[in-house]
Amino acid sequence: MTLSEAILSRHSVRNYMDTPLTAEQVETLNTDIARCNREGDVHLQLITNEPHCFQAEKPHYGRFSGVRNYIALVGRKSADLDERLGYYGEQVVLLAQTLGLNTCWVGLTYKKTPSALKIEKGETMRGVIALGVGTTQGVQHKSKPFEAVTEGTDFPDWFRQGVEAALLAPTAINQQKFKFVWNDGQVKVKAGMGFFAHMDLGIVACHFEIASDHRFFLDQLHKR
Ligand SMILES: Cc1cc2nc3c(=O)[nH]c(=O)nc-3n(C[C@H](O)[C@H](O)[C@H](O)COP(=O)(O)O)c2cc1C
Repeated sequence: MTLSEAILSRHSVRNYMDTPLTAEQVETLNTDIARCNREGDVHLQLITNEPHCFQAEKPHYGRFSGVRNYIALVGRKSADLDERLGYYGEQVVLLAQTLGLNTCWVGLTYKKTPSALKIEKGETMRGVIALGVGTTQGVQHKSKPFEAVTEGTDFPDWFRQGVEAALLAPTAINQQKFKFVWNDGQVKVKAGMGFFAHMDLGIVACHFEIASDHRFFLDQLHKR
């Protein structure tokens, strides 16, 4: 399965089987996580066989069962941390999908298990990504139309393909509060107001770049 195919088949899955990750899956994920941490100055951590994170009794939306593996979204506090966690976390989500695993981003309904995590001084944890063999493949979410998430005119085909893939991306409560702007031959993505809207921004940029084969997001972050 390619990353573009993974974009099409990925949906949030909240119920998991007991099946442990294989040693090969763990190694492949850890190799990619190490690359993301280096490139993105983040501290993603794959935690396996740790069921406590999802046993918290909290008011929540969505219900989870059988979660024993997850990726902790950790990084040094900074203005663009959420964007980078979204951008790199989604790269790992799509890789996991190609390995036959299911995932779900979780911003709210988890419990921190300090003994399983490494959170250094100056770092913060912003959420987790549940990971494993799902009991189902999930379902396709409803999407806003192309026009609702774009600004500009005379969009090239690759821009359209990028936006269509961004509309397939996970966003918190499926809010899709982002806008891709095509102006002066340049792409930009803007976040709207909402919970985790900046993490969503990195996630949708990841999908856009894969489907359009055009990189822009890291430049956009560096120009801030
Ligand atoms: C940053 C972020 C945080 C999320 N937090 C939660 C959460 O706390 N609980 C939950 O059940 N789902 C959570 N989700 C999953 C979204 O509800 C889901 O991605 C969205 O409804 C779209 O569905 P899909 O992922 O199946 O395409 C989160 C997603 C993102 C991107």
